[in-house]
Amino acid sequence: MIPIAKPIITESEKRNIQEVMDSGILASGAYVSEFEEKFAEFCGSRYGIATSNGTTALHVALEAAGIKKGDKVLTTPFTFIGSSNAILYCGAIPVFADVERDTFNIDPEDIRKKLEADPEIKGLLIVHLFGCPCKMDEIMELVDEYKLILIEDCAQAHGAKYKGENAGTFGKVSAFSFYPTKNMTTGEGGIVLTDDEEVMKKARLLVNHGSEKRYYHEILGYNYRMTNLAASIGLAQLEKLNEFNEKRRENARYLTEHLEDLDWLTVPHCAPEYYHVYHQYTVQVEERDDFVRMLQEKGIGYGIHYPLPVYKQPLYQKLGYEDLSLKVSEELSERVVSIPVHPSLTAEELETIVQAVRSFRE
Ligand SMILES: Cc1ncc(COP(=O)(O)O)c(C=O)c1O
Repeated sequence: MIPIAKPIITESEKRNIQEVMDSGILASGAYVSEFEEKFAEFCGSRYGIATSNGTTALHVALEAAGIKKGDKVLTTPFTFIGSSNAILYCGAIPVFADVERDTFNIDPEDIRKKLEADPEIKGLLIVHLFGCPCKMDEIMELVDEYKLILIEDCAQAHGAKYKGENAGTFGKVSAFSFYPTKNMTTGEGGIVLTDDEEVMKKARLLVNHGSEKRYYHEILGYNYRMTNLAASIGLAQLEKLNEFNEKRRENARYLTEHLEDLDWLTVPHCAPEYYHVYHQYTVQVEERDDFVRMLQEKGIGYGIHYPLPVYKQPLYQKLGYEDLSLKVSEELSERVVSIPVHPSLTAEELETIVQAVRSFRE
């Protein structure tokens, strides 16, 4: 079986974990601070606030950036549900814009339409999906024009760049996930990045029960702290992130070279000025049920990212989105299949994947 994702854990992670165990300081501590500094530096951000996972990072990012109860936040429905759920956690209201067929990312043209239709929209939560940066020139123009609070969900985009600039440095604040399937992991974990001192201070309070001084609580906060154990894994992984991303890109290049001639399958599109980090390699096919059955039979892991636009999820249907329909998101959700692209893949496995995919219509 070739898995769809496989974290690479080597001696350095094990050594770091052992050090933390030996130190006896398992929860917050020096490893967390070092990880925050190093990850922020890697991304070119001033401040990093580590969290317990990517969802808590998003919640904190939105709240620290000033999203409040009743605020409308425009976002993509073609993502993991954590993105828009974080808006709900703030008591805010997700408003959905459609995505682009080729990049799967939120469509700047539809953002404009939604902003024109609803002047109350205050925030914009973008997701650099599958590791491909959103169209930032167009998006920043809209952010300036409509004075939006921009939040970036970089859960799938560690090290991704748009025209040389890191994903996670465009918005007022950004959030990353370090779940084991991601481009780098801490087990469970997340981080909030910002250049804004006020946002940093608020985020620090929010992750720690609103407390700066022990047992004194200034605001309503949460226990969203990262552990030293998780941070120690993250420090070892961060050293290898560039290498992991390069390997993902190399694997993606191989897959594209060997699959792009198929007229019944669409390979992911990536503009050359983007540094796509291929968290997923997602193709589009018409007969998806048969296609995934074939993958299963041949022992090739796959993922459906995502089978429903978020507003079609039962939770959102109950929240009042039952009349919403966004054409591209709905079509994509019926056609997408992610095939393995992770850095553990061997040359033989890549060849097996290509042969299996090609055999579907031979
Ligand atoms: C786009 C996106 N946003 C948010 C999250 C939430 O991250 P986590 O699973 O670490 O809570 C994920 C990861 O699953 C994700 O892919």
